[in-house]
Amino acid sequence: MSLSVRQVPHALSRRRFLQRATLGMAAAAMLPPYSAAARDDEEAYWRLVRDQFPIRRGFTLMNAGNLCPSPYSVSEAVVAHTRDIDTDASMQNREKFKGLAAEARAALARYVGARPSEIAIVRNTTEGNNQVITGLDLGPGDEVVIWDQNHPSCAVAWDVSAKRRGFTVHRVSTPEAPTDPPDLIVPFVERLTERTRVLAFSHVSNITGVALPAKALCARARTLGILTLVDGAQTFGAHALDLDAMGCDFFTGSAHKWFMGPKEGGILYVRQASAKQLWPAVVGVGWDDAFDDAQKLETLGQRDDAMIVGLLRTVEFLDIIGRDVAEARTRALAVALKQGIRDTISGATFKTPPQAALSGGMVVFALPGVDHEKAFESLYQQHSIGGALIGGDHLRLCPHVYNTMEEVERVIEVLAGIV
Ligand SMILES: Cc1ncc(COP(=O)(O)O)c(C=O)c1O
Repeated sequence: MSLSVRQVPHALSRRRFLQRATLGMAAAAMLPPYSAAARDDEEAYWRLVRDQFPIRRGFTLMNAGNLCPSPYSVSEAVVAHTRDIDTDASMQNREKFKGLAAEARAALARYVGARPSEIAIVRNTTEGNNQVITGLDLGPGDEVVIWDQNHPSCAVAWDVSAKRRGFTVHRVSTPEAPTDPPDLIVPFVERLTERTRVLAFSHVSNITGVALPAKALCARARTLGILTLVDGAQTFGAHALDLDAMGCDFFTGSAHKWFMGPKEGGILYVRQASAKQLWPAVVGVGWDDAFDDAQKLETLGQRDDAMIVGLLRTVEFLDIIGRDVAEARTRALAVALKQGIRDTISGATFKTPPQAALSGGMVVFALPGVDHEKAFESLYQQHSIGGALIGGDHLRLCPHVYNTMEEVERVIEVLAGIV
């Protein structure tokens, strides 16, 4: 039976929370699911969610595109399992981690709409992208099409690989102010040729916040026999994903961003039917020539077992809130932020489109007549607001489930004061 929002005093919850974490139980159980009770008092529910995080009081963190805190249930589980290993590093004591890793893989698979055999647990998006880039058989005559807004780990990494192996990389630009999905589909489709072997793009751009219509792009690529790599660093944990339905061949994400999981953890999704085309970049103990799924990308030597348990606890935490509810909340916060800046600061400009279908939870904008490097510092030093500076002339704010609407209002006021 779930508790209502007001029935959970924070101090008591936290004590129980820690006890549960130490015992390796679903520590976030004290957070009630988002339900009718929560809908009655929306902001009280989200304040309770915030209380699950050790974020310093008075600090407004809106930096999910870069790094997120983990809830207590996750960080305490990582600490407790690390301590357990340090207390008894015998093989016998660590035997349990095989089962926990299998549970983590199954939970991650369910969370992103995939099969457990399609999920490799890797270090981060960078590693996942590079596993795909270096693992595919490509050579002279082959072409790879990427977005000119890709992150270096899916742009420079392609260039380096192309230099060595002789294939060609083409960059596609999309309109600065897209108005509907075809604006973001046509430029890619026009660049695909019979020589194109891979289409690789960020699901949501980390520099503009533009969201590409991944499903449509993957469908188009598939009809032409082209493999797709979707860099999900800005959507894994933020959007309710269904990778099977998205139709990509490969998808990557970092646990330490929107997913709010342990640091230096990530996923590499490999569609079962495409696994045969991918060679592992790392081969270690446990390698089996018969591997024909994502497992072959995980013979990575000794793992951080506690981190992997942390991934499992993170899915449990997100499950309590609900994937759809969490996405709706981050979108609502971003919409309120965009709207507030637009209404309050005349001359503010946005790289992120206002339309929900063309954006996610990220807001990238510029303020008129403002030195953005100074503004970025002043937000943190004078106003305790953590965001990001993009290209020296834009700010990026990424509110998440641990933010409240009051914080959004405060940020808008502070920004208006800076102008
Ligand atoms: C779109 C995108 N891809 C990849 C990365 C790299 O993530 P990580 O450093 O966790 O590997 C980032 C980081 O911001 C990103 O925004």
